[in-house]
Amino acid sequence: MHLFIGTAEDCDKKGALEIVNQIKNKPDTVLGLATGSTPIGMYQNLVQFYRDGKVSFSQVRTFNLDEYVGIPREHPCSYYDFMQENLFKDIDIPADHISLPDGNAPDLKQECADYEERIAGSGGIDLQVLGIGHNGHIGFNEPGTPFESVTQLVNLTQSTIQANARFFENQDQVPRQALSMGIKTIMQAGKILLFAKGADKADIIQKALQGPITPEVPASVLQLHPNLYVFVDHAAAAKL
Ligand code: PGA
Repeated sequence: MHLFIGTAEDCDKKGALEIVNQIKNKPDTVLGLATGSTPIGMYQNLVQFYRDGKVSFSQVRTFNLDEYVGIPREHPCSYYDFMQENLFKDIDIPADHISLPDGNAPDLKQECADYEERIAGSGGIDLQVLGIGHNGHIGFNEPGTPFESVTQLVNLTQSTIQANARFFENQDQVPRQALSMGIKTIMQAGKILLFAKGADKADIIQKALQGPITPEVPASVLQLHPNLYVFVDHAAAAKL
């Protein structure tokens, strides 16, 4: 594991540089992307590197970790919209290079199988960006999710619904289900960049990186990944 501890801004910049270098080495890189507050600053750095002419996304393909079930793509809380607003609208990635699971597909089970196939058909994810939930979830893989899981329909836990309510008008509006890459899908990525910021993530970062490897802490599986890069700010690193 490569562990970087610094200010939140340092983490954003260092993480973005890792991605820029990945794309320099392989212009048709397949990126796995994450939503949430954590990667926003890193995405802003990517946009700046693009504006400065340091990187082009014209051959890059992306697969997002997850998407809510049952809210329209255009809804301001959809992960599709999040990605447009925080990254895609400001870089040169072609629209047909962008993939998120379709939470409005008529057959959600089929959509999950198709998503796995689309990832495999692209050659697989070269670099996956991850945040971490307070309960250790990665993507929407909540505690107890088998390590062998692939993209599937998941029920969100109460703690995740509460944590995500801040983006909605109220808690009742948070969807109860999502489509999420599985733990196995994530672990198949060639390289993983895990980001965590803030004192409220200190406990779970310690458990995930130094505790027992168990489905009860989904992110603990990352200890088994051969190419894991972790970027934590000082507050999130306090218990390491
Ligand atoms: P956050 O979410 O970046 O908004 O803290 C992380 C996650 O739940 O995976």
